[in-house]
Amino acid sequence: MTLPDQMTAVEISDSGGPDVLRPVRREVPRPAHGQILIRVAWAGVNRPDALQRAGAYAPPPGASDLPGLEAAGTVAAVGPGVTEWAEGDAVCALLPGGGYAEYVTTPAAHALPVPKALGLKEAACLPETFFTVWSNVFMRGGLTAGERFLVHGGSSGIGTTAIQLARAFGARVFATAGSGGKCDACRELGAERAINYREEDFVEVLKAEGGADLILDMVGGPYIPRNVKALANDGRLVQIAFLGGRSAELNFGEVMARRLTITGSTLRPQSDAAKARIAGELREHVWPLVDAGRVAPVMDSHFPLEDAAKAHARMESSAHIGKIVLEVAGG
Ligand SMILES: NC(=O)c1ccc[n+]([C@@H]2O[C@H](COP(=O)([O-])OP(=O)(O)OC[C@H]3O[C@@H](n4cnc5c(N)ncnc54)[C@H](OP(=O)(O)O)[C@@H]3O)[C@@H](O)[C@H]2O)c1
Repeated sequence: MTLPDQMTAVEISDSGGPDVLRPVRREVPRPAHGQILIRVAWAGVNRPDALQRAGAYAPPPGASDLPGLEAAGTVAAVGPGVTEWAEGDAVCALLPGGGYAEYVTTPAAHALPVPKALGLKEAACLPETFFTVWSNVFMRGGLTAGERFLVHGGSSGIGTTAIQLARAFGARVFATAGSGGKCDACRELGAERAINYREEDFVEVLKAEGGADLILDMVGGPYIPRNVKALANDGRLVQIAFLGGRSAELNFGEVMARRLTITGSTLRPQSDAAKARIAGELREHVWPLVDAGRVAPVMDSHFPLEDAAKAHARMESSAHIGKIVLEVAGG
């Protein structure tokens, strides 16, 4: 395939609101050793993109300054040493950045095949949330069948993925969300109980059930001591974001007396090898479920690449349920 020299991309022209996202012309990147170049069909939009745009989440060293942590498309070129993919393969991939563009490079080991049950549009919405949920809920949090699992932000991209995967692996799922409609969506995805946090106290609901064995939290702040109260003995709290604040006062006596674990992680700064391990586990344990149509991304809306600002405004309105995606080449 002959590659063009230039491509259309959307860059963060300055830190600020959605309108700092601007279409630009950039050089088409070339794949380095162990990398593939993807001709992007669709690119997923995630809350970390909005945080990066606002100046609150700098890309790690060496990553593209362009936003975009996931995409689906076809392999346009392979770098030296790549044997697992060939030109023309349909893939979806976790990206170190740069997804809001016609072409993007990423380590070959961070790509996965487009699942049989999905098109490129849906596949573009898998990597960021599936890598995050698998690594935090199952690898780090150790969720097992029969356990009580609580996820906050149940209608978010992360939440809709966490509900489905936890349910598919036999956990009892509880979710919080900020409206009746969002709670309905959580139940439809497999939550046995959805808690509208504007009307009900999730601590009381979980305590009445015996406590949560595992909580996946993106809110933090005042939720931190409440999460600790909602955990069962030996329960685990996995923190993946702080939409509601980073600090809290906590009685660590409760952590000690009830043998609780408080942990967390962020995906993007992890090593290529760590991300490749997560990709391998997803391929083995989760892709068969997606291939069979038992788990699928919840699609909220799509926008042309040039309208990335509108996509961010939609995400920051928090009116969405599930994933927002950008059409690049389409298909
Ligand atoms: N650690 C990691 O590796 C990692 C990776 C990916 C994403 N994340 C984080 O996970 C979170 C979810 O990501 P996403 O892409 O799924 O985002 P998203 O779809 O935009 O979901 C965020 C949801 O959180 C809920 N929420 C609760 N409290 C909030 C608050 N104080 N401010 C804003 N929203 C609040 C909102 O729904 P309600 O109406 O229910 O409040 C909102 O829809 C983000 O914070 C993101 O940065 C972390």
